Amino acid sequence: MSEAFQAPVGTHDVLGAEAAQWEGVIATFAQLAYRYGFSMIVTPVFEEVGVFNRGIGEKSEVATKEMYVFEDRGGRTYALRPEGTAPVVRAFVQHNPTLPFKAWYFTPAFRYERPQKGRYREHHQLGVEVLGSEDPAIDVEVISLLNDYFKAVGLKQFRILINSMGHEECRSKYVETLRAYLADRVDQLCEEHQKVWDQNTLRLLDCKKVECVAITDAGPQLPDHLCTECEAHFTAVKSGLEALGVSCERTPRLVRGFDYYTRTTFEFVSDALDGAQNAIGGGGRYDKLAEQLGGNPTPGIGFGSGVERLLLALEAEGQTEPLINRTPAVFVVDTTETDAASLICHELRSAGIATVRAYDNRSMKAQMKVADKSGARFALLVGPQELAAGQITIRDLRSEEKIEQISIPREKVLAEVLSRLGK
Ligand code: HAM
Repeated sequence: MSEAFQAPVGTHDVLGAEAAQWEGVIATFAQLAYRYGFSMIVTPVFEEVGVFNRGIGEKSEVATKEMYVFEDRGGRTYALRPEGTAPVVRAFVQHNPTLPFKAWYFTPAFRYERPQKGRYREHHQLGVEVLGSEDPAIDVEVISLLNDYFKAVGLKQFRILINSMGHEECRSKYVETLRAYLADRVDQLCEEHQKVWDQNTLRLLDCKKVECVAITDAGPQLPDHLCTECEAHFTAVKSGLEALGVSCERTPRLVRGFDYYTRTTFEFVSDALDGAQNAIGGGGRYDKLAEQLGGNPTPGIGFGSGVERLLLALEAEGQTEPLINRTPAVFVVDTTETDAASLICHELRSAGIATVRAYDNRSMKAQMKVADKSGARFALLVGPQELAAGQITIRDLRSEEKIEQISIPREKVLAEVLSRLGK
């Protein structure tokens, strides 16, 4: 036998019971996004590398250290998407759809990170993007959608952090002031930031090391650098959320990792998860991104939420039941070596009943074992005797005490199963 392969480091396969959970969280998201007026968007999993370099920022940590960049056989340089926003905005610019453009997606994202629980080299995001308006009502809608979503999947222990980075001018004024303040205090920063503090100064606000926290706490604060319009926008977002009963914590340190963010930024954190991997969703405005990617000036906002993190948070809260039932209703056991099982399965499936069966003419005992394991509600048994008599035996696989089964005429099977399933 040849040596078997494993999934690449930092990636994982999803199958079996875990796959049922995935289906549940994805279907719930799709349904909610539809209710909020979003249509699905699918874009290529790789893009010209410039889409991300210009979009998330050439100097961002993701672009410099984590992006999977490769040259194809035609000599073009592409990147596997590290996130979902820049590709959607690239597609928006390319197709020029009517405004507002509201799209939702489910996508893998690739980042060369140090793999650990809740941090992978391939993870999956559910997300939305809205382009075409800077109305604070859209910020409210997007944040409220994610809040509704987490509630709908049964999450309880989460909080919403919110901030405003201001528009480009407020932001760059703040960065200038912060840099001037830090320039005299470089030796007091953590070891890593002593070296890179001037490359992406805002990232310092994200540093959890006590030295950096102390220096930045004592320094200039982002909220003090917002212009009147940006402050008014932020106030409108907060009061809109309050009106919907969505509570948020203003967090001036919340600057997020990509260069495209302007004004509102937010993050949903799970209190059931470890601090370093507790962000279960995050996003914000990117009012300049369409322009940066060659389009007309068009404001935008969105979020991405990690499916793996969400499932870890649900598990940490003790919620492991899938949101949708993916066990079959009926298992057909057939020892006739005819096409009896095929015909019964087809009849029930056509009537909307999830039906499975055994193959390879295995013994009755072997087939019943599989039926018991399948989680099906009923087994339908057909052997040579039943076939000759035009009968089928129906057995309740969930009756606890004695085996409960009856024989019924073959032509009444569908009606009997439907009525037992309460349909
Ligand atoms: P992000 O915060 O980098 O934002 O990622 C969104 C979410 O993806 C995170 O909150 C987390 O749940 C999950 N996530 C990120 N990296 C990993 C990883 N290595 N392993 C597991 N889960 C991970 C974005 O990607 C932006 N595109 C969000 C956005 C949309 N902003 C505006 N629109």
